[in-house]
Amino acid sequence: MEVLVRPAGRVISVKPGDKFLPALRAEGLAISYSCEDGRCGLCRCKLLRGNVVESARPPRPLFGHRTRYVLACQSSPADDCAIEIPDADEPVTHLQRRLRTQVLGVEPLGHNVRLLRLANTENLQFSPGQFVELELGRSFSRVYSLAGLPGDDELRFHVRIHPQGSAGQMISERLQVGTPLRLRAPYGAAWLRRRHDGPLLVASSGTGLAPVLSILRGIAAARLANPVHVYVSFLLREDVYGLDELSAALERIPNLRSSQVIVAYGAIKRGLRRGLLTEALEADIPNFRDWQANLYGSPFAIDAAIHLLRRRGISEDDLHADPFHPFGS
Ligand SMILES: Cc1cc2nc3c(=O)[nH]c(=O)nc-3n(C[C@H](O)[C@H](O)[C@H](O)COP(=O)(O)OP(=O)(O)OC[C@H]3O[C@@H](n4cnc5c(N)ncnc54)[C@H](O)[C@@H]3O)c2cc1C
Ligand code: FES
Repeated sequence: MEVLVRPAGRVISVKPGDKFLPALRAEGLAISYSCEDGRCGLCRCKLLRGNVVESARPPRPLFGHRTRYVLACQSSPADDCAIEIPDADEPVTHLQRRLRTQVLGVEPLGHNVRLLRLANTENLQFSPGQFVELELGRSFSRVYSLAGLPGDDELRFHVRIHPQGSAGQMISERLQVGTPLRLRAPYGAAWLRRRHDGPLLVASSGTGLAPVLSILRGIAAARLANPVHVYVSFLLREDVYGLDELSAALERIPNLRSSQVIVAYGAIKRGLRRGLLTEALEADIPNFRDWQANLYGSPFAIDAAIHLLRRRGISEDDLHADPFHPFGS
């Protein structure tokens, strides 16, 4: 089969049954990948034309998305086709690994959020904004976003404790300093891109603050000069947490244009803004045409923000989001 690969504009030949990913790599075409087994989502390509045979569930589209995507590591061409590799000029290739770790601490961050600190003994490689799968028991795992940067001494996570949530309850009640754990990482395609000229929107709802801190530290470490706009939102006034760490991260952003902490319900104190994430974005930013966005957290808030950004002109290629849909077994 002949496969046209964009943006390189090359036509490569792929044998029936062969997957796109090894064929692309054999041809020296840059593509992000990590797990090579359909789990991390990094090798997601746009299917522009033609049909494919998929050996895993196709990637979940972002809310309201009509573009067809395929995982290059799980799909083979069924006929001549055309695909587009995202971020071909900036591929991410941290190999996904299963690591040993141990608990360094579980500490309160807010009334329903715990800071989970794990040892980074095996020096996990990842990009800001990515997440890990934490194995909490036999066939029992959940994914949590990394709040720090690679090279940190410890891996930090913000874990929301839902009243009936099995993982949250276990983490807050049963994990102790020294408890051994395993995790699989990294996952996630909503990582920080560095090659973008326009403004950056970094936004969260709830514990989406964790990857926002990672992204902000990544922006500071890479000294990105883009104008940066940060929107951190919470449902209730009592849900607000982590503002000192947020302020410290914001101070290091080279070109910070605005930062907003938004609360939907409850009495507001100084420095907080009342409303929904979408209401604040709608009031402040008339269009997102040259913007790049990284969005994380509660699915309702993030899906609504994705919808708004699309209506206001953001390019699909610049929209990167991880709504925290319930995940795991
Ligand atoms: C890419 C990604 C990254 C994530 N990162 C984080 C993170 O950094 N921090 C974090 O806390 N979570 C994160 N999550 C969500 C996390 O993986 C779990 O799904 C979530 O914490 C619930 O797990 P649980 O076992 O405590 O609850 P479950 O036992 O799975 O759920 C029990 C009950 O809890 C309630 N519940 C569960 N999820 C939600 C929700 N999203 N909104 C409202 N109620 C809910 C529901 O009533 C549900 O029936 C992420 C999810 C994804 C997909
Ligand atoms: S490399 Fe294809 S999904 Fe991970």
